[in-house]
Amino acid sequence: MIGNVPHIVQYQGSKRILAPQILRFIPMKFNRLVEPFAGMAAITIAVAKQERANHYLVNDLNAPLVAVLESAIETPNELFSEYSKVWNEQFAYSGGSVEHFYKVRNDFNNGQQTAANMLYLLARCVKGSVRYGSNGQFNQSPDKRRYGTAPQTLKTNLMAISYYLKGKTHFMSKDYREVLDETKAGDVVYMDPPYQGVSNVRDSRYYSGIGFYDFVEAVDSLNRRGIDFLISYDGKCGDKQYGEDLPEELGLQKVLLKAGLSSQSILLGKKEITYEALYVSKGLQQHFVPLQEQQYSLFEAMAV
Ligand SMILES: C[S@@+](CC[C@H](N)C(=O)[O-])C[C@H]1O[C@@H](n2cnc3c(N)ncnc32)[C@H](O)[C@@H]1O
Repeated sequence: MIGNVPHIVQYQGSKRILAPQILRFIPMKFNRLVEPFAGMAAITIAVAKQERANHYLVNDLNAPLVAVLESAIETPNELFSEYSKVWNEQFAYSGGSVEHFYKVRNDFNNGQQTAANMLYLLARCVKGSVRYGSNGQFNQSPDKRRYGTAPQTLKTNLMAISYYLKGKTHFMSKDYREVLDETKAGDVVYMDPPYQGVSNVRDSRYYSGIGFYDFVEAVDSLNRRGIDFLISYDGKCGDKQYGEDLPEELGLQKVLLKAGLSSQSILLGKKEITYEALYVSKGLQQHFVPLQEQQYSLFEAMAV
């Protein structure tokens, strides 16, 4: 059992809840985990908590996000103290806490892209969803009902995450293809690209869209070099399929993971379950650890 996987901050698309299901396909011991689309690195943190790999490579095209990860892992006390300063300011700010968010967002867009500012914006923005306008500026709005993760809660999580990963992690901020070029036999690569629904939409929910055919080519190259990998790739709710399947010629096993009840269908009184696809490379298919049906229930998946 993995138990609770600590996280730094909410992040849209985080795989924290799905981590126990995804880790069933990851070997118990291997050399290096590579996450080219790390976001807040839920799978890296879950794998490190179980000490399965010796080394970790986390990459995300969004450099300020990587700065948050690096600071959380290498200098958690500093990040805690910087974040506390920014977070506490909102209660003394003359215009109030919502105006304070906009002030920090302005500072961030005017060059102060510090880890503490990025972390505060993530903690306070709607659904932890990073959005940039076509001018490249962070333009997500604040969640007016919340003040963002309290510093003490953050500290507990930072200390745990740093304990698992400090001194073992290499940080990068490049396009995923450059990261894949650096992989070698013995690595396990976990890829969680932006949803196909937002692919090829420049500066939308994420920094960049991922071209479907570019991605297929990159996966094919991993296959040819004998590197093991897993890909989270869109999914299915009720009868509706999101995104295109990866081609069969890649020889991957497609597994549907139970991701939860779709909020959209609850609103319509339908209670449809959302599934997320996980594609597993040949070399990892043998590592699959089956769960008993009752362990695999939605309740279990949601209760992590
Ligand atoms: C679905 S999120 C990953 C969430 C992550 N699995 C987690 O648990 O937090 C996809 C990430 O890919 C990053 N990204 C977008 N385009 C990229 C690219 N071309 N190369 C590397 N990362 C990219 C985005 O910034 C985003 O953080």
